[in-house]
Amino acid sequence: MTAQILDGAQLAKDMRAAIAQQAAALTARGHKPGLAVVLVGEDPASQVYVRNKVAACEQAGFHSEMHRLPASTREADLLELVRTLNDKPDVHGILVQLPLPAHMDSHRVIETISPEKDVDGFHISNAGLLMTGTPLFRPCTPYGVMKLLEKSGVPLRGAEAVVIGASNIVGKPQAMLLLQAGATVTLCNSKTRDLAAHCRRADILVVAVGRPRMITGDMIKPGAVIIDVGINRLPDGKLCGDVDFDSAKEVAGFITPVPGGVGPMTITMLLQNTLEAVERSI
Ligand code: GUN
Repeated sequence: MTAQILDGAQLAKDMRAAIAQQAAALTARGHKPGLAVVLVGEDPASQVYVRNKVAACEQAGFHSEMHRLPASTREADLLELVRTLNDKPDVHGILVQLPLPAHMDSHRVIETISPEKDVDGFHISNAGLLMTGTPLFRPCTPYGVMKLLEKSGVPLRGAEAVVIGASNIVGKPQAMLLLQAGATVTLCNSKTRDLAAHCRRADILVVAVGRPRMITGDMIKPGAVIIDVGINRLPDGKLCGDVDFDSAKEVAGFITPVPGGVGPMTITMLLQNTLEAVERSI
């Protein structure tokens, strides 16, 4: 058996075209969508992510502003910038790229973002709304995964969904979104015993760990949907996911490639969340 590829690059392209149309319509009504991105320090991966986010905004016809601060910035000054952005009417979404330098308390920074502008969905009140089943913003990566699952056409109600990795950014919100969609969810972490047995039960397996090719074909239920959130750089410079694509594709029903699967969807859902913020603000 060879799995069908869940083409995130294509889905992201289609969605971004629709988002650009909606942005143009809002702009014509005097509500141009605006996203502010804040980067503190020089982390090379963060610089790439942030650059891609700003470029995606511009391509979709959004107003975007980039705020770069040195790693030595005082936390109080970052909080002041966030408060200024909270008050700016042309900014509908605020994203502070993580991780922040070690001398900053990222929780305090995120809690300073107005929940109505928290397009990452990381604010504690947005996490709480998601937990109680009435989300305002869905965190971008798990939201993108839900769109990919929708695209597969595989029913989620009653399905066994296993999520590997329990981070605040991916695993925990992913589990909540799958639960809301009617799946029976198992959330595994680094201490989970017999991970392979959990994986083999999964109709839907979402892997967000950051360990190259740790999930192999023998750990997968035949016909399962495999969503690989991992992006790992190998010593030869190539990218690979947390799933061993070559062995997994022989067993799975659907699988996301790396690159070109979940990655392009994350930024797309950031644009979508910004659009949702504009619509709520008017
Ligand atoms: N760092 C890694 N992923 C993310 C994300 O989705 N949002 C923010 N703000 N920082 C990140």
